[in-house]
Order: sequence, then C-alpha cells, then structure tokens
Amino acid sequence: MNPTQSRRRFLTVAGASAAALAATSQSHAEQAATKTKIVAVSCSPRKGMTTATGLSVCLQAAKEVDPERIDTELIELAGLSIPWEPSVGIALEEGRKDDFPAVADKLADPAVQAIVIGTPVYYASMSALCKSFLDRFGMFRRQDFAMAGKIGAVLAVGGARSGGQELTIQSVQTVLLCQEMIVVGEGRPTGHFGARLWNRNDDVLEDEFGISTAQNLGRRLAQMLLS
Ligand SMILES: Cc1cc2nc3c(=O)[nH]c(=O)nc-3n(C[C@H](O)[C@H](O)[C@H](O)COP(=O)(O)O)c2cc1C
Repeated sequence: MNPTQSRRRFLTVAGASAAALAATSQSHAEQAATKTKIVAVSCSPRKGMTTATGLSVCLQAAKEVDPERIDTELIELAGLSIPWEPSVGIALEEGRKDDFPAVADKLADPAVQAIVIGTPVYYASMSALCKSFLDRFGMFRRQDFAMAGKIGAVLAVGGARSGGQELTIQSVQTVLLCQEMIVVGEGRPTGHFGARLWNRNDDVLEDEFGISTAQNLGRRLAQMLLS
C-alpha cells in the first residue's frame, strides 16, 4: 500500500471507529437519561451458592451508585436447561427442554446496557454450563452483532485464593470480545481484570478482598453507564 492509500485507509477506519464510538456513547447517554439495566448471569450449576452471592454483591454496589437510574437483575442458570447443540446447528431431540431463548430475550432488552457473566472456576476455566451458555450467546453475533457496544464484565469464584480466577475471567472475556462488547475490569482501588472471589466453606462474604473486587466492578459498571 502506498502512503496515500494507507492514509486514506487510516482515515476511513478512524472515521468508522469514531462513528461507532459516537453511536455507543450516545446510546449509553440516552439510556442514562432514563433507567439503564445491568444483568448478571450466574453460570454455576448450584443455585444460590457463592457465584450468585458474588454477583448479588456486585449488582447491589452498582445500584447504590444511583438507585433511581440503575436497574439490576440476577439470572441464575442453575436448574435451567441450556443445551449447547443448537450452537452448532444440531437439532434437539423431541421433548428436550431449552431455556436459552427465554434468557436471550431478557438479555436482548434494549434497557440492558451491561452484562456480568459469573462463573465458578473449574480447573482454571469456566463451568461447562457457562461454556454452553456462551456458545449459545454466539447467536447474537450472528444477528448482526446485536450485543456490540454493550459493556461486558466477568466475576469468577474459586475454591482457592489463586485457583485460576484470572485465567477463567480471561477465557470468558475472550468470548465477549468476539461479540464486540466493551470488556471492562473492576474499578479502583483494586482495578484489575474483574471480580475474583475465594469460596471458603461455601461462603464468599468472608472474603473481604474478593468482595471488594465485586463491589468495585459493580460501581465501575454503573459509573460507565451513567457517564
Ligand atoms: C469440577 C470442579 C473443578 C474445580 N476446579 C477449581 C479450580 O481449578 N480452582 C479453584 O480455585 N476452585 C476449583 N473448584 C472449586 C469451585 O470453583 C468453587 O467451589 C466455587 O465456589 C463453586 O461455585 P458455586 O458455589 O457458585 O457453585 C472446582 C470445583 C469443581 C466442582
């Protein structure tokens, strides 16, 4: 590419990026004028356990930033049937339950401007339920990147302090990046990759540091949506 072509190409790409950014910030600002919603999806197969608790703490911190303008919802996949087969075009057998479409409908609500994916750490990666869910979530990518410009964040809970939470967060973030979502970590003062919690005897509330990362994540999401 000669210098003139490469400059023209740069200006085209930069113009497109600026337009995309303007569209995204406009939609966040428009949402901020009314109510904006943060949805957390717990991908633990154990209902009401530590992943759900961590996400509830994160959502509570987000709501406290501005209860008038921030709505939150926790969706627990535990007990739901999220088969992966449709993500590769395999039809489900007659009578097999599929709860993904109902969850997808909630996420597709235009009021939902940020999504937090919470997963337990299983061998330094996400749960099988989380993987099935994210494979199905690929549906939005095929629908003209319907999740593009929404904010995505991750919370991981492990049975050890450093049991692979960061690796797990990264593997989920990679999927969100493929959706053109805006991936963020938790805010200051911890300011790293996302919420990283340690489950000791099925209790995360005792994990002061981990809880602070969940709170810092919630606050950052709310502040970004309202800015
Ligand atoms: C199959 C399996 C693998 C696990 N692997 C890890 C691991 O690599 N690192 C870790 O810290 N904890 C590991 N754990 C512990 C879980 O991450 C931990 O108990 C988590 O809090 C469970 O989330 P929940 O309470 O929402 O079900 C594993 C648990 C299971 C069942």
